[in-house]
Amino acid sequence: MQEWRSVNVLICFYSRYGNTAKLAEAVGEGARVSPGDQVWLRRVPDLEPEDVIRQDERWQRTREALRALYPEPRLGELQRADALVLGSPGYFGNMAAALKHWLETELIGLWRGGEIEEKAGAAFCTTSTLHGGNEVTIFTMLTALMHIGCVVSPAGYLVPTLRRNQMPYGASAVTGPNADLSPTADDLAAARALGFRVSHVARTLLAGRAREEFRRRYQQWGAAPTP
Ligand SMILES: Cc1cc2nc3c(=O)[nH]c(=O)nc-3n(C[C@H](O)[C@H](O)[C@H](O)COP(=O)(O)O)c2cc1C
Repeated sequence: MQEWRSVNVLICFYSRYGNTAKLAEAVGEGARVSPGDQVWLRRVPDLEPEDVIRQDERWQRTREALRALYPEPRLGELQRADALVLGSPGYFGNMAAALKHWLETELIGLWRGGEIEEKAGAAFCTTSTLHGGNEVTIFTMLTALMHIGCVVSPAGYLVPTLRRNQMPYGASAVTGPNADLSPTADDLAAARALGFRVSHVARTLLAGRAREEFRRRYQQWGAAPTP
């Protein structure tokens, strides 16, 4: 088994006021382990019409800044990705509709074509309060990743900071009632740990030729008579 391979990590997130984007950057830092690793930070577009966004000066301003930094995800990147990481603000205990819309319109095509399995997957979120859906928002994204056959990779308790006010299921930050508390140093450390781990799982799957081996073994297994 080849031990060291470069990986492509696609980080697809939605962010309105920039906090989730900061966490996405940290996940990306952690995922970039070997010089050949590619980390694609991609923001899914807003769903709301222009006149709605224009009524919120902060949203409009942040959107322009985020658009300049992060292109929208492309299907080809999704195909070439060895890991898919989803990130979102918690909206009513769920991922934002913009991210869900992207899953339901873009990702579904690849999933139907069977091109998505044997990728590593992970999730991160920001919410205004800890108990306002912080963990459950992560699980809405993990559920989607499981649905498409990703090998889900949590942060676990990889770094000591995860034992302080963090969770082992993904990475998260609490941004306060006005969404103006930036992720803390601990939050960013947890996000880097998540990135490192999902990149490691992707690398292991790639080195073990998981996709090819899965298909070969699955065909053999499928051919075996059922008792
Ligand atoms: C429509 C909407 C619904 C929200 N629902 C929740 C929620 O259920 N729980 C919570 O803690 N925060 C909620 N928030 C707050 C956001 O999750 C929080 O401000 C987040 O950090 C924003 O991320 P961003 O800066 O990347 O846009 C909601 C915000 C909006 C706009």
